[in-house]
Amino acid sequence: MLGSMLTATSLLGMAHVASAAGSTLFVSSYNSKVTTLNVGADACKAGSPVPKLQTVAESSGCGESPSWLTLDHTKGLLYCVDEQLQSSGGALASFKTNADGSLKSLAKVNTSSGPVSIAVYGKGGNGLALAHYGGSAFSTWDATDPSHLVNIQTETYKFTKPPADPPRQTAPRPHEAYLDPTKKFIVVPDLGTDELRLYAVGADSLTTTKLDSVAAPAGSGPRHVDFVKRAGSTFMYLVTELSSQIVGYKVTYPADGKIAFKQLWVMSAHGWDKPTPKQAYASEIVVSPDQRFAIVSSRNENSFTVPNFDPSNSTQIVSDPLINFRIDDEGGLTAVQEVAAGGKYPRQFSLNKAGTLVAVGLQNDNRVALIKRDPQSGKLGGFVGYTELGGQITSVIFNE
Ligand SMILES: *[C@@H]1O[C@H](CO)[C@@H](O)[C@H](O)[C@H]1NC(C)=O
Ligand SMILES: *[C@@H]1O[C@H](CO)[C@@H](O)[C@H](O)[C@H]1NC(C)=O
Repeated sequence: MLGSMLTATSLLGMAHVASAAGSTLFVSSYNSKVTTLNVGADACKAGSPVPKLQTVAESSGCGESPSWLTLDHTKGLLYCVDEQLQSSGGALASFKTNADGSLKSLAKVNTSSGPVSIAVYGKGGNGLALAHYGGSAFSTWDATDPSHLVNIQTETYKFTKPPADPPRQTAPRPHEAYLDPTKKFIVVPDLGTDELRLYAVGADSLTTTKLDSVAAPAGSGPRHVDFVKRAGSTFMYLVTELSSQIVGYKVTYPADGKIAFKQLWVMSAHGWDKPTPKQAYASEIVVSPDQRFAIVSSRNENSFTVPNFDPSNSTQIVSDPLINFRIDDEGGLTAVQEVAAGGKYPRQFSLNKAGTLVAVGLQNDNRVALIKRDPQSGKLGGFVGYTELGGQITSVIFNE
């Protein structure tokens, strides 16, 4: 019995090695670097010691405070925004991704200040939409020639009514630009105004048209969204940073050029049965490629301890959680599991396309952690890779 179980396990292990070997991660960090990490075959072996992910290339072409990466894999293009935390400016950079993992700088342009997110949109995927947290702005760029990025529109937001939480909501704070599944609309969660700002994407041009915003719960601090398509319906989940909640919406398309959101429910970032600790800041939500699970990260909870990744260090690592939810056909979420994210402040994380790995960017530990995932059960498993870089991690994405 034990023998046959071991055989099954090692066969699964080998299949996993084959699918992950040779893949790479791109990592942005506030130490002015975009780093390429090798997800080697070793990264499939859970257990101790956890394999260290090797750096295969580094680029300083994004600028002083790289805050977000978006990959257009089919074109081999990587886009990075520089939040410029020191100089209070902002920039957008484009790179060609080389087969050896290195990046070739193509262009860098100044933008409105404090960009934190990029969505590829529009005809041919030639548009880039940016959310500017620092500069309270939304901007769009023509990247038809990725070596020559051209500003299309920049809109700066002002308060139209007093914020619900003045100490935390000192200005409009667009936190993300995200394309809906039809690729015809861009959603911009605004942490400062408790709104989902909306734009319609032009059918034949890269211009975007502003639509009426959707109000999110007062004082919630909208941060990031993801969509799911289930049983013929579309739903969207909003993660709020100030209230650390998840808001579920049903999404419909009542007419050409129109998108509608109906709020269904609001729950804690830990699910229906568990309140979020007061000091928590929920950060990211990602729906699995098979649309069956959603994973949420939360910061400043310190709810787990895990063995140090450095086997010579006996001090345990204090970790924030990832919360794993099952999605039902009505778009409902049921919490099924909480695991250690691998350290402090999982600001952002990504799943690979096969759904077998989760790469977590742990901002306050300067660490990237790789977690194994079973795509059948949706369950998150042990750590299968890690590394520490010389600055706060802001995003990590798979090169696929
Ligand atoms: C971009 O902004 C920096 C200051 O933040 C400035 O030194 C530089 O000249 C600007 N570049 C362009 C092309 O305007
Ligand atoms: C050991 O690990 C702890 C927790 O991550 C860390 O704070 C400490 O600096 C490490 N010590 C050494 C010598 O690396």
